[in-house]
Amino acid sequence: MIQFEDVRKSYGDLTVLNGVNLIIPKGEKVALMGFSGCGKTTLLRCINGLEHIGSGKLVVNGEDVQSPALNWNRFRSRIGMVFQQFNLFPHLTVLENVMLGPVKVKQESREQAAERAYQLLKQVDISAKAAMYPDQLSGGQKQRVAIARSLAMQPDILLLDEPTSALDPPMSREVLAVIEQVAAQGMTLVMVTHELRFVSHMADRLVFVDGGQVVEQGSPRAIMNHPVQPATQRYLELFEG
Ligand SMILES: Nc1ncnc2c1ncn2[C@@H]1O[C@H](COP(=O)(O)OP(=O)(O)OP(=O)(O)O)[C@@H](O)[C@H]1O
Ligand SMILES: [Mg+2]
Repeated sequence: MIQFEDVRKSYGDLTVLNGVNLIIPKGEKVALMGFSGCGKTTLLRCINGLEHIGSGKLVVNGEDVQSPALNWNRFRSRIGMVFQQFNLFPHLTVLENVMLGPVKVKQESREQAAERAYQLLKQVDISAKAAMYPDQLSGGQKQRVAIARSLAMQPDILLLDEPTSALDPPMSREVLAVIEQVAAQGMTLVMVTHELRFVSHMADRLVFVDGGQVVEQGSPRAIMNHPVQPATQRYLELFEG
């Protein structure tokens, strides 16, 4: 479902992805981990085409991202993304934020989109705030809205880039609980996170990135108990703390 073959990408002289090989089957829950600057966000952004790859091959949902014939609107509508900083539209209410994609991109009627948006807000336990604006919400509440918004497009793949790193521990826990509940619905999930405990019970696979390459991958428990690469060992020592 997501297949990287020797994917490389540079910004000027800086090589950020240095031959990524990674296969993520449909429905798998993958945690991407690694030190700051190792290329995690770039890797994630390549999956939904926010970044173009330099060389190699990347196939997502059966589509080659380098194909000139690729229909980007359709391609992107199947991939949800949740960011560290929420990225909600400040001038739209919570409900309107969640409705926007289905109305604009999928041409759903406002009534239908509003009905479904409300159901999604209920699912992430924030429907009481539907008429409020993002500025009136806590960080954890904003992130739950952002998750509902990404689900509104009914994506096959959900990408999450450090969704809890801007949140204090209680808010992180509430957002992680929502992510776990979403993960249980069978979507393919790729999440950058440093939350080791969450990863150990939620993820099917831990993928460790270092220097723009996947250097180690396997079941979270196996890697956490017996990391092989020195970089993975250092990382776990630092984050297990
Ligand atoms: N648009 C850009 N232009 C130039 N350099 C960039 C750009 N985006 C990222 N980089 C550089 O690419 C490298 C990898 O960045 P990336 O954001 O993928 O790392 P990361 O693993 O997500 O780090 P973090 O854990 O801090 O979020 C970094 O050195 C970064 O400075
Ligand atoms: Mg990042």
